[in-house]
Amino acid sequence: MHNSFSHLGGILILILWPPLGFAGTADANYNEAKVPGYSLPNPLVFEDRRPVTTPEQWRIRRTEILRLFEDHVYGRTPSGVTPLRFQVRSEDKNAFGGSATRKEVTVYFTEDDNGPQMDLLMYVPKRGASPAPAFIGLNFYGNHTVHNDAEITLSTRWMRNNDALHVTNNQATEQSRGVRDSRWPIERIIDRGFALITAYYGDIDPDYDDGWTNGVHRLFFKQDQTGPEPDEWGSIGAWSWGLSRALDYLIVDEDIDHERVAVVGHSRLGKASLWAGAQDERFALVVANNSGAGGAALSRRRFGETIEVLNTRFPHWFNDNFNQYNGNEDAQPLDQHMLIALMAPRPIYVASAQEDLWADPKGEFTSALHASPVYRLLGTDGLAVDQMPPVEQPVTSRIGYHIRLGGHNVTDYDWDRFMDFADKHMQPKGD
Ligand code: GCU
Repeated sequence: MHNSFSHLGGILILILWPPLGFAGTADANYNEAKVPGYSLPNPLVFEDRRPVTTPEQWRIRRTEILRLFEDHVYGRTPSGVTPLRFQVRSEDKNAFGGSATRKEVTVYFTEDDNGPQMDLLMYVPKRGASPAPAFIGLNFYGNHTVHNDAEITLSTRWMRNNDALHVTNNQATEQSRGVRDSRWPIERIIDRGFALITAYYGDIDPDYDDGWTNGVHRLFFKQDQTGPEPDEWGSIGAWSWGLSRALDYLIVDEDIDHERVAVVGHSRLGKASLWAGAQDERFALVVANNSGAGGAALSRRRFGETIEVLNTRFPHWFNDNFNQYNGNEDAQPLDQHMLIALMAPRPIYVASAQEDLWADPKGEFTSALHASPVYRLLGTDGLAVDQMPPVEQPVTSRIGYHIRLGGHNVTDYDWDRFMDFADKHMQPKGD
């Protein structure tokens, strides 16, 4: 269920809410007939209007587009290097009755053992290719929620309260173990020969508007800086950065084939996986599940969640420049199809859910469709259809897509399709 503003009801709120011009969740458009006419910027035309006609020219145009997303949407990721350190904290070669190795690895972002750090949980299959291809994705409520494995360290970090998931006083409890296992079918993943790596996104930046006192942003502030500049990164930028730092570790872990690492994310973390894949071409494959507005969905459609809602409810996610597009989508020098194009020619899979109208399934599909010319220029089939496929009939061209039954979630169906897609498109080099 998406949050709504309905809990703010009451006379006072009725008078004050919504503020003038604010499009709240209650006002979201779910009517296709009310989607306004729009025209999309062409990823294959340079800012100076010259056409992009060769793969070499695309590399230059790619840099332009990346810059546009930095300046106008997610913010610039600092290029400075922090002194990363890795520590393998535990290793058990007999996880799941011997079919997998479980490891826990801490990635320290500074030289301070008590400074910002991220705990990776890894399961590596014992059978199948070695080193193993892998999926990496951040989780919402701590590593201990992804499986009922009692050996997983319980997260002690701040997290959003959630009664159903047994998070109280912003802390996980023992009862939280395994509460999100339906979204992480780890044994199924292992059986198919993939490793699974996950980390709690709050290790990188806790998901609330705290004025940048916690998380990794402050590691990069200049002297006297207290928050990101209007074109600098927000929380989505930080989560994406964290995914790249996890990949830095996987490169030195001999159990993992670091040339075959797929980055996967759901919802806000699908937005983060897209931005990670766009910036870091070491990710061999990208999966965005129900990523919606600010993710795969086209903003100009203004269907379901809009830029204004994103910026109002989650002011810390994007950069401050993004605010100028509240209710002003057509002014953007980009749209989200250009984010998908930044993955080209690497395989990307966009997944929607039929009832997840907030995330605009059609907008997610249309975005994939309009990234396709870039993939074709680079000699791949791009998205091999031009109409939205029927429910649960996946498209498995280089840009892959499905819409499944049900709502906003990650299911076994989704994972099975991600793995089919990875089997098809993420083969070892030379095969
Ligand atoms: C909210 C938000 C979405 C986001 C989702 C999630 O619904 O409006 O943009 O994708 O949370 O992360 O679950």
